Amino acid sequence: MIFVTGGAGFIGSNFVLGWLAETDEPVVNLDKLTYAGNLDNLRQVREDARHVFVRGDICDAALVGRLLDTYKPRAIVHFAAESHVDRSIHGPGEFVTTNVNGTFVLLEAARAYYAGLDANAKANFRFVHVSTDEVYGSLEPGDAPFTETTGYAPNSPYSATKAASDHMVRAYHHTYGLPTLTTNCSNNYGPFQFPEKLIPLMITNALAGKALPVYGDGRQVRDWLYVGDHCAAIRRVLQDGRPGETYNIGGWNEMGNIDVVHTLCNILDELAPKSGSYRDQVAFVADRPGHDRRYAMDARKIERELGWKPAETFSSGIRKTVQWYLDHQDWVSGVQSGEYLKWVEKNYGARNPAQEQVA
Ligand code: NAD
Ligand code: DAU
Repeated sequence: MIFVTGGAGFIGSNFVLGWLAETDEPVVNLDKLTYAGNLDNLRQVREDARHVFVRGDICDAALVGRLLDTYKPRAIVHFAAESHVDRSIHGPGEFVTTNVNGTFVLLEAARAYYAGLDANAKANFRFVHVSTDEVYGSLEPGDAPFTETTGYAPNSPYSATKAASDHMVRAYHHTYGLPTLTTNCSNNYGPFQFPEKLIPLMITNALAGKALPVYGDGRQVRDWLYVGDHCAAIRRVLQDGRPGETYNIGGWNEMGNIDVVHTLCNILDELAPKSGSYRDQVAFVADRPGHDRRYAMDARKIERELGWKPAETFSSGIRKTVQWYLDHQDWVSGVQSGEYLKWVEKNYGARNPAQEQVA
């Protein structure tokens, strides 16, 4: 069986659902169920005996060690993290705790567990660490996309903690021989993404008749990848990736934020028409402090070595995603709890209204 952390979050739950659909291999899923984790994401596998859900913290060394000894997984796939850049600006402490200390606890537990395996189990064991393109910093227009050898230059507390965890993972391979693999992926979108991130926030705000808050000039560029393609890439890395290596994962799909928002408005105008266009709700607001201007990924290594390529284009994936949110309004209202409303007030209430303008 495999051991997944953070499997009740956005990418983790898509991974667990995809894994159980594609294979017969059981999954132990350790998740703390923070605001971002939701058992409703895993409703489809609630009755599935191959899925063992454990509510707990990756920082709990005794728990992690006991789970590894009990379930004897052949691999760990590590998603658990604090993942939202804006939250890391308001409160970096949790990011250091989970992303840095939590990954350290997991690595130590994995090292002890690995040491006790027989030669055959050792040869097959893998530790896949799921990381981000943000560790590479920010690109200027015209700069070549990030490759696996680009130097690390994280700019936000979030990306700095992810970079720290990547370095620890690397060190555990070089020092202790733990068979680790790191994936660095660009911006994901798709079902079950918490509506604090750009795409689900814009869809849910649009449908609720609220402002669509675009930071700064809206010309920041991100590379967007459908979450199912990211999960497929992780499966390929787990299956055939070379221990000690890192793999960039991306969609070759750079877009300016304002273009993403306009695309969402166009699709909503078609699928959920109202009088006037959703574009009328766009409002430019104060920028994110330290906002990275551009990310772009060179994903040729994973394409060449592991034969992975995204199956979705942005236009097919984004349409599916908008349709999913339209069809799952109950899920949206379920996650928009008291805590969510407090976050909206904290992040958007204080943004200088003088800087707002309608596009
Ligand atoms: P998410 O915030 O949606 O989910 C994180 C999950 O981790 C939640 O279920 C949460 O309950 C759990 N968790 C948090 N702290 C925990 C702890 N201490 N112990 C156990 N569980 C804990 O995040 P996501 O967007 O699904 O991202 C998953 C991983 O992928 C993260 O490591 C993130 O850095 C990375 N990543 C995300 C993106 C993206 O676009 N979302 C892109 C590249 C990489
Ligand atoms: O690049 C991969 C990363 O992508 C992941 O590692 C992170 O976990 C994930 O959160 C994401 O980070 P971003 O900061 O790029 O994603 P976010 O959805 O928060 O923002 C995308 C862009 O949209 C960014 O330039 C900021 C902008 N934005 C975001 C929000 C929430 C807005 O203009 N308005 C908003 O309200």
